[in-house]
Amino acid sequence: MPTISAVALPDHLDEHGLRDKVAVVIDVLRATTTIAHALASGATCVVPVASIDGARMIAHDRPGSLLCGERGGVKPEGFTLGNSPLEYTPELIHARDIVLTTTNGTRALQMCSGAAEIYTGSITNLSALCGLLRVQQRDIVLVCSGTDRMVSLEDCIAAGLIAQRLQTTHAADDSAMLMRHAAEGAIDRCGSLEAAIASSFHAKRLVDLGFSDDVRGAACIGACSCVPHFDPATGEIRPASLPNASHA
Ligand code: MLT
Repeated sequence: MPTISAVALPDHLDEHGLRDKVAVVIDVLRATTTIAHALASGATCVVPVASIDGARMIAHDRPGSLLCGERGGVKPEGFTLGNSPLEYTPELIHARDIVLTTTNGTRALQMCSGAAEIYTGSITNLSALCGLLRVQQRDIVLVCSGTDRMVSLEDCIAAGLIAQRLQTTHAADDSAMLMRHAAEGAIDRCGSLEAAIASSFHAKRLVDLGFSDDVRGAACIGACSCVPHFDPATGEIRPASLPNASHA
């Protein structure tokens, strides 16, 4: 049986440990939720970039692309869109390349470039993602992005829910079991998945910035059936092709 393990921060990754494995990068609030939503809303691809200056240069070199992202949760000066999934409407982004830089999520993606395959995970695309991972039958590392190099509860909850859903097809090591216990415990203690996500530090910060709809939306299982796939060779994230009945 293939294995599933997890890291609470990308900084905990052992670069060689990713080789031959599938990395699932998780930034529930909000980068990987936004990426799945943008692709589901018709963007051609998302180009994740670690720095603001790098994003400006890449957007400049890709005519018709949109410069998007955040620092401190807020859209930087001169950017077209921030990092709220709600901004990524089909009218604005259909058939456009999205050049995206975020504080933690795009950095985590870049740190996984040694993996055999890289997908992004969130709670909204949990069902489609787990359907794909189940069929692939490969060793998985769940990579939580964290917030400003600190562990994020919402990412650990998503990792735990993935480990829970893959329990019949993947053998969880202690790190994945820990995430699973954390997810089940937080949901039980808070009364619901939505309340558990809302109890996290970063959720509270986003609510203070006026993004309470993003926090609510990020907790909706099944809201999105797109599974983003990152190819470090092209630098692009595009929707993965999904096997039939992958929305389990
Ligand atoms: C990040 O990548 O740091 C986040 O997505 C921040 C945010 O909530 O915009």
